[in-house]
Amino acid sequence: MNTLKNDLLVRTLKGERTERTPVWMMRQAGRYLPDYRVLRERYSFFERCRNPELATEITIQPVEQVGVDAAIIFSDILVVPQAMGMEVQLVESKGPLLPDPIQTAADVDRLILPDVDDELGYVFDALRLTKRTLAGRVPLIGFAGSPWTLLCYMVQGKGSKTFDEAKAFCYTQPETAHRLLQMITDTTIAYLRGQAAAGADVVQIFDSWGGLLSPDDFENLSLRYIRQIVAALKDEVLTIIFAKGAWHSLEGMAATGAHGLGIDWCIRPAMARKLAGPRVALQGNFDPARLLSPIPVIEREVRAMMDAFAESAGPGTGAAGHIANLGHGILPNVPVEHAMAFVETVKNYQYEPAR
Ligand code: CP3
Repeated sequence: MNTLKNDLLVRTLKGERTERTPVWMMRQAGRYLPDYRVLRERYSFFERCRNPELATEITIQPVEQVGVDAAIIFSDILVVPQAMGMEVQLVESKGPLLPDPIQTAADVDRLILPDVDDELGYVFDALRLTKRTLAGRVPLIGFAGSPWTLLCYMVQGKGSKTFDEAKAFCYTQPETAHRLLQMITDTTIAYLRGQAAAGADVVQIFDSWGGLLSPDDFENLSLRYIRQIVAALKDEVLTIIFAKGAWHSLEGMAATGAHGLGIDWCIRPAMARKLAGPRVALQGNFDPARLLSPIPVIEREVRAMMDAFAESAGPGTGAAGHIANLGHGILPNVPVEHAMAFVETVKNYQYEPAR
């Protein structure tokens, strides 16, 4: 049975009022935690992902050590290209490397539409074990990369500031690009459905590179596939879309029927609320680099963020229709006490309207 002792996140995503704002941090399971760094010395990245006991331990670390209101399963968005038949390496201090990137229609022909139970069953095992170990302490979040963001890595073969080769592929071979995006979409729907069945209370779609696209290209190459994913899942599981930098399309993202939308620190909460409308929860939007400030400054800035969301809440939107989070993943060089100050300040926050 799925009884949650702390269901703040779930209720906020359902549009209900809560006694306080839920808080978690994107990329919260990871390198800023000393206990994670110990495991990192002993096991490779994909070993950590594929071993349910290790994945569970890493997933729960920030719940116990930082006090967040949700767990996000330890895995990576790049397990999907792996399951589709591509080699993916994580190179120390360099990031992902896909040595044989997609360049032609023939490369796309060689990809497979995987049986997710066979190829990604280890993620489902990790979710089941994490769910059991959490024993209802907090909700469990599953996730996947958006089709566009996965195409970026599958074509470019590595990280990039511009993903120009991925864009060139879409602009010169549009039919092949759309075929690839559709294959990723179909795989992702089955994958996220499996995650929900294995115990994920919420699923988040990470479109980390959506903001590299113009509004028209975002619609054509990203949102239209995210829309299919949300349409397939939203009646089965709570859904959050995080498309970094794509604030121009908040209205379109809200129209997908997703329960929550992530925003980064480059847009004010009031503007985001105006664009997204009153129905959807907004998640964000603390600048991750702000966690490098001295703790009293973090506390002041977090309260300012909370005020901004409270003041922008429309009628009928939960406590403030807000999930406190960073505007992107936590940086590896953030001291744990600074991450804790972020979480504690949200938990202790009370809105005091100016008279
Ligand atoms: O949020 C969590 O704590 C759950 C775990 C998680 C990881 N990756 C673990 C990870 C999640 C949600 C991701 C998502 C992910 N992976 C995204 C989308 C979010 C974002 O930050 O934009 C992207 C673009 C990737 C691809 C990826 N994986 C990159 C670019 C890198 C290297 C650079 C980096 O940020 O670390 C990874 C490796 C990775 N994924 C690590 C972790 C903890 C670091 C590997 C290590 O510990 O050595």
